[in-house]
Amino acid sequence: ATYKIAILVGSLRKDSINRKIARSICAIRGDHLECGMVEIGDLPLYNQDFDKSPDEPATYGAFREKIAAADGVLFCTPEYNRGVPGVLKNAVDVGSRPYGSSVWNGKPAAIVSASPGSIGGFGANHQLRQACTFLNMPVMQQPEAYLGHVNDDSFDADGRLKDGPLKDLVEKLAHAFHDWVDMVHRARAALAS
Ligand code: FNR
Repeated sequence: ATYKIAILVGSLRKDSINRKIARSICAIRGDHLECGMVEIGDLPLYNQDFDKSPDEPATYGAFREKIAAADGVLFCTPEYNRGVPGVLKNAVDVGSRPYGSSVWNGKPAAIVSASPGSIGGFGANHQLRQACTFLNMPVMQQPEAYLGHVNDDSFDADGRLKDGPLKDLVEKLAHAFHDWVDMVHRARAALAS
């Protein structure tokens, strides 16, 4: 089966390495993953007063619909000061409300973090994992994706991953993510029948 995947990148930077990794995952499993980048830079800071209010930012509704329509979610994020970048946490919070109508509920997900540093965004990855636990998202366990030592040199001029261990891991990840989304959906269908 082909699955619709919403991709959220935790960096607004034009040349983001995390965006390039996200694109690589899509390219590898483009045969069975229909990937769409969900832009999060235009979501105003979440304010609980917006819930069910006419003052709610116009961009919130379209954002929530895109997540709701997806069969799975792929997060590719940098680590900022050992945590999830504010822009991504804001998007997670926007999607989680109003209370009782979270668009994240039950969505299979994978969390990838990439950094030029050696820890590979471990802190951000796990902080986001914790939020996903609370939001009832089944998150892929393996392979873990703390991608360290990723920088401009990891990609060719077209933004494609150069051959090497990083590319091998990203290929494994892409296949495992497809299989994970597939397994969650098949299990759900079997339980429902
Ligand atoms: C960083 N960076 C960083 N890297 C890391 O491994 N751990 C960290 O805690 C931080 N903290 C941090 C804070 C802020 C405000 C910035 C701007 C950067 C470096 C970061 O990994 C690097 O800039 C990446 O290239 C960011 O990812 P994108 O934008 O290329 O996807």
